[in-house]
Amino acid sequence: MTPAPSSTDAREGDHRVAGRSAYEAVIERLSKASVDKHWEPYRDIPWDDPEFLVDPADPRWELPEVDKLGGHPWYRSRPPEVRAAIGLWRVATAMKVGLQFENLLKRGLLNYAYRLPNGSPEFRYVYHETIEEGHHGMMFQEFVNRTGMPIRGMPGPLSAVAQVAPWIPLISTELFFVFVLGGEDPIDHVQRKVLKDERAHHPLEETIMRIHIAEEARHISFARHYLRDRVPRMPVHRRLMLGFAAPIILGVMARIMLAPPLAMIKHFRIPSNVVSEVYLRNTAAKNEIRDSVGRTRELCAELGLVNALTRRIWRAMGIWAEPR
Ligand SMILES: [Fe+2]
Ligand SMILES: [Fe+2]
Repeated sequence: MTPAPSSTDAREGDHRVAGRSAYEAVIERLSKASVDKHWEPYRDIPWDDPEFLVDPADPRWELPEVDKLGGHPWYRSRPPEVRAAIGLWRVATAMKVGLQFENLLKRGLLNYAYRLPNGSPEFRYVYHETIEEGHHGMMFQEFVNRTGMPIRGMPGPLSAVAQVAPWIPLISTELFFVFVLGGEDPIDHVQRKVLKDERAHHPLEETIMRIHIAEEARHISFARHYLRDRVPRMPVHRRLMLGFAAPIILGVMARIMLAPPLAMIKHFRIPSNVVSEVYLRNTAAKNEIRDSVGRTRELCAELGLVNALTRRIWRAMGIWAEPR
């Protein structure tokens, strides 16, 4: 059994690598790390340990006061077991949406790998990543099952539209890896924030998050290095298209990953004025969406994908901030 990491690893450093061979060395290092440091949900998580059992009334599921919903007077006036159930519902929904995104991602990675030529260094790494995402899907679904709650993922129409994602690599592999970052970066942003908030977390939630953060650091690093290697070599017209598409994909993805769960709103009869105050007319909620794509936004700027024209799209999608 490999214990979950005891601390949150720093993000994979993605120092600019000069030239093709340095890029290939990064892929090799990531592949080796996938062999040396990986976790398997049914070997490394003690699901049936009494400490790890999920009780929806456990006060550790309660949302903290600093949370947008957790600090709202409506939430604070609910009985403790309802506050805990709402908190658990939200964690489980994030895992369900996460596993659906990762399902699309795996299919896209396999579509990408299908066409790779013999000897391609990306092939092995992409298979490592697909396998890790397979483990994440099992880990997230097992958690959802153990809540006993009727958790739903993405809303139906959105889920239908999302089925095009695995085919993006056939049009543009660069756009596909922007989509990958569009899902992975917001999840990573939220999970790191949760672990840093110094509250007592349920050990199962904490173990899952630590394992996920550690493995996602490699996936995010690969996507960023891939874009750094490929985008500068793209023909100008394709790079322009990518510049237009990137903020649209990122804006939509961040909203999908951070949206309030509609089934939860219905189940707990959260009044519409509360929903609107917490999620729609709330500057903190808007900033959260903007900040969750911060690292990808900076990467796009560095790669020359942001200009006066495309910046308007970033602004319209609500995900623009001046570079630090
Ligand atoms: Fe994952
Ligand atoms: Fe990932």
